Amino acid sequence: MENTAEKKGVAKIDVDGKVVEMPIMGGTDGPNVVDVKRLYAEAGVFTLDPGFTSTASCESKITFIDGEEGILLHRGYPIDQLAQESGYLEVCYLLLNGELPTQTEFTDFARTITLHTMLHTQMDRFFEGFRRDSHPMAMLTSNVAALAAFYPDAMDINDPEERRLSSHRLIAKMPTIAARAYKYSIGQPFVEPRNDLSYAENFLRMCFSVPAERYVASPVKIRAMDRLLILQADHEQNASTSTVRLAGSSGAHPFAAISAGVASLWGPSHGGANEAALRMLREIGTPDRIPEFIKRAKDKDDPFRLMGFGHRVYKNYDPRAKVMQQTVHELMEELDISQNPTLQVAMELEKIALEDEYFVSKKLYPNVDFYSGIAMDAIGFPMEMFTVLFALGRTVGWVAQLNEMIEDPTQRIGRPRQIYTGAARRDYVPISSR
Ligand code: SDX
Repeated sequence: MENTAEKKGVAKIDVDGKVVEMPIMGGTDGPNVVDVKRLYAEAGVFTLDPGFTSTASCESKITFIDGEEGILLHRGYPIDQLAQESGYLEVCYLLLNGELPTQTEFTDFARTITLHTMLHTQMDRFFEGFRRDSHPMAMLTSNVAALAAFYPDAMDINDPEERRLSSHRLIAKMPTIAARAYKYSIGQPFVEPRNDLSYAENFLRMCFSVPAERYVASPVKIRAMDRLLILQADHEQNASTSTVRLAGSSGAHPFAAISAGVASLWGPSHGGANEAALRMLREIGTPDRIPEFIKRAKDKDDPFRLMGFGHRVYKNYDPRAKVMQQTVHELMEELDISQNPTLQVAMELEKIALEDEYFVSKKLYPNVDFYSGIAMDAIGFPMEMFTVLFALGRTVGWVAQLNEMIEDPTQRIGRPRQIYTGAARRDYVPISSR
């Protein structure tokens, strides 16, 4: 990757009377950055930014987010256009290669992915060690890391061919692992991928078909699944993507770095929010109980938060939430479950929250996870699988960002510093003297 940020000016910081100048860099769109990499060398001070609310960790050309305007672009293309016009595998090609494919390029790419969907049969034995009620995210995290053991050559991350092969293997095998995690949790036999099915259809069949019956996935569910994957494909430098970049910056096996991203996504503040949001909607149960939960969300002494609301970047409506809401309505109409009580509560909660001063003042809008759980539930997945489905969609984003980090000529191992406020130097005291 070529770094193309341009110098836009100079920032001056006065540290104990010494004025240090740092370049201000600008990109295609979004806020400029102050390049502080020389700050410690020239002024002897660090910057402090827990949670990285004001810190850019890298230059990237993959995804652009404007939180104030509610804009999300993948390689320049708006997410709502991709969700309506494209397909998940085409979005994978776009994120990995930077351009939309020609028909020939897409056909070759799709065929390549298809031919990598099977797992080494010994992988199946890793599932046997889990209790049947193990959370599928535990099985996904560990099996993605275990995959590294079968592809030692992928450690040569500076070989573009090895990176290409690893990228295709991860995108191709994640559905097979995810489906196995689901099948294992419900005590049903694993279903092998089929090369004549599309990515989303193949995944649904591996999850929901049983040997005893012929299975044909509903076209509405296939389209909804594919759109869910598109909406979760990448999202700039979120917690799990930053985890993948930091883990990969040491030269770790790419599959191990991706498994670190899966682990980070699991948290309820991040990818676990879709499962938490549906649990919350089910706990609310009926629209008349919403005010009680809104009151709790505002109570500083109550750790309860409205899951599926708020975002570190979006201080406007999450553009993915709009498309997800439309997908939910399509599913509800097609599957004739428009009276779904959970959907009724969701629609009423969204309406009330968007009019409530607390949420308006804090710019807490529904995010991608608010509706995605309802869509995943309508397709037939249990709540425990929701974050697995998020990880499935996000795999291509993690892979594209990991590759970009490896190809970045300025890339170094990530090693933040700290401000130390612990004990000053002191001598050891023998226990007999304490
Ligand atoms: C994802 O980064 C990404 O891009 C993530 C993601 C992706 O695609 O990778 O978009 C996917 O993770 C979406 C977010 C899913 N998480 C949730 O829905 C969980 C509920 N949301 C919150 O936990 C929270 O909004 C975060 C974690 C999403 C954002 O946290 P921030 O930016 O650190 O904001 P904050 O916690 O500092 O909150 C700011 C204020 C606080 O009040 P004050 O201290 O200022 O008085 O808003 C309040 C918070 O108490 N607040 C909420 C709230 N979210 C924030 N109050 C009630 N309900 C909420 N959901």
